[in-house]
Amino acid sequence: MSAKDVPRQVDTLRDQIRYHEHRYYVLDDPEIKDAEFDRLMNELKALEAQHPELITPDSPTQRVGGKPREGFVKVRHSTAMLSLDNAYNEEELRDWERRVHELSGESKVDYVCELKLDGMSLALRFDGGKLALGITRGGGAIGEDVTPNVRTVRSVPLTIPAKTLAKAGLPPDFEVRGELLMPLAAFQRMNDEREQQGLPKFANPRNATAGTVRVLEPNVTASRRLDFFSYAIFADGRTIFELHSETLKALQTAGFKVNPNHRLVHSRDEVWGFINEWEAKRDNLPYEIDGIVIKVDRIALQRELGFTGKAPRWAIAYKFAARSGVTQIEDILVQVGRTGKLTPVAALKPVFIGGTTVSRATLHNMDEIDRLGVRIGDWVSVERGGDVIPKVVKALEDKPRGTRRFHMPERCPVCGGHVVRAEGEADHRCINVNCPAKLRESIRHFASRGVMNIEGMGDALVEQLVEAGMVKNVADIYALDQEKLLKLERMGKKSADNILSEIKNSKTLPLERVIYGLGIRMVGERTAQFLAEHFGSMGALMKASEEELQEVNEIGPRVSESIREFFDEPKNVALVERLRQAGLAFKGQKKQRATTLAGKTFVLTGTLERHTRDEAKKLIEDAGGKVSGSVSKKTDYVVAGAEAGSKLDKARELGVVIICEKKMEELVKG
Ligand code: IVH
Repeated sequence: MSAKDVPRQVDTLRDQIRYHEHRYYVLDDPEIKDAEFDRLMNELKALEAQHPELITPDSPTQRVGGKPREGFVKVRHSTAMLSLDNAYNEEELRDWERRVHELSGESKVDYVCELKLDGMSLALRFDGGKLALGITRGGGAIGEDVTPNVRTVRSVPLTIPAKTLAKAGLPPDFEVRGELLMPLAAFQRMNDEREQQGLPKFANPRNATAGTVRVLEPNVTASRRLDFFSYAIFADGRTIFELHSETLKALQTAGFKVNPNHRLVHSRDEVWGFINEWEAKRDNLPYEIDGIVIKVDRIALQRELGFTGKAPRWAIAYKFAARSGVTQIEDILVQVGRTGKLTPVAALKPVFIGGTTVSRATLHNMDEIDRLGVRIGDWVSVERGGDVIPKVVKALEDKPRGTRRFHMPERCPVCGGHVVRAEGEADHRCINVNCPAKLRESIRHFASRGVMNIEGMGDALVEQLVEAGMVKNVADIYALDQEKLLKLERMGKKSADNILSEIKNSKTLPLERVIYGLGIRMVGERTAQFLAEHFGSMGALMKASEEELQEVNEIGPRVSESIREFFDEPKNVALVERLRQAGLAFKGQKKQRATTLAGKTFVLTGTLERHTRDEAKKLIEDAGGKVSGSVSKKTDYVVAGAEAGSKLDKARELGVVIICEKKMEELVKG
């Protein structure tokens, strides 16, 4: 490309990227693959790197540009950001509607029903079609300038072309208001990471949103994936359109994200219908809502109705019923999960909570029972969160207390196997591999690709085999024959033969796979590899004491205890013996591992030039190091290639050492 073509190419790329960002982040309807999008972005970044004079603040590459800041500047809102009055039941809603009719003198009023998104409200000012300011609500009159953080929210456009503004009927200078929120998936991920890093978790997505938009480091905001839904436009402090429904359309035309779940309705029955519909469907949404907002559609009527002290008379928030209730614990039962985890479950006097009758609530584990101080017979407060499984959140002290304490059983209620709680852990587990509750999961794991690689033995077949009682433990897989398989529904001779040949092939897989396949707790792929290399045979491993086990690379007291427990259970020993008789690999190669990088954890990010990801991983592991998928405080090095993204940001945030590929090779060589 000749130098004079560069500006045009930069413009074209920016337009393409903006178009695809809009398709992806606003419309949730991408046209191209992520890789293709990344290619466009990388091309633009490369051109901008060669021609920094062409970089503009509204370039899609400039979402995360701001430096960490000292604090936030206060900004006065163009018009106060008000809140909403609430209605908690049908009667209060009817009262509000009656007032609307009385005050306006109208007998028929159209309303727009919207979801009440549970985030925080935000004002965005655009000057000349470009995002100039993002301001939090604050006290309503004065908010805080959080512009650099708002720029990282992908559903907020940084610039809107004059043509698009004209089409939407918007002037170049205007203000958009809406709700900033954190989708549930992002919230979950963020709290998981915080837990790993030993940081306190956020109580709910709303708090997480508020915390995220006020961090001083825009990199952090960018990594947390907030979303923004708009619902109002002002120009010169006034609403531009005649109808609220037109405002929503104009916002969409201008490229803003508008929540699709809104409806223009013409009667009170329709309002009530919308409320009931979304109260029932709220758990299917990927973000939290706490009610429905009902707004008078006609803006002239809105003006007429005006405001009370802090809220408009033309809108109301219908708040969904609290999803908690009070009831009594009749008993505490124990459920055994697929991994053998024992979960104490409270059997409750049935109570109606948020639309359903609840008669069971989880108590998670023994630590939680101790923390809550819950006894059988107690009155408790029960909550139903977005995740549907109700939980006991509090024992009520002002009610008569129960007297029976709960104790975890020493034997599994499903199979009678030993129940163990490892030191320092909250969960009790059944350690019998043959426990029916654990059976499905353990067989799935054993047959899966990374373990014994028995192709064709997927979820459906495992289910059938267990159901038919043909497989009661993983050793039974090797007792299957054509006659048995043909008894299964939809099983033809050809499929049966294929599966049998896959089963036969699995016998050639190395010892480490068999060890991994046993499903010993805390023994993953890597630990299984170390065990196989250290002991060289299943027999030696089975005999090893806890002290001997701890001589193995990366194995500490907890893992060694878990391995010892596994082989101390006679049922497990019998199972392993059957696997030996079936002809699985019980001998391996003893191997001395390099220890150059022992105890060091690496994270790879970006495109490496000299090695593929797998090669780099192997290099590090062969030198005794460990490769992890995510950056945390425990990471020693981040190896950054070209176009490294959020992991690099995270490494900077946590002060982890960042190295290039070449440096990694040097470390490997010692
Ligand atoms: S309209 C004049 N619409 O609820 C009031 N607010 O409790 C303009 N909210 O501060 C607000 N979803 O943060 C409106 N669809 C929606 C909303 C919504 C959530 C929030 C907003 C407001 C709070 C009031």
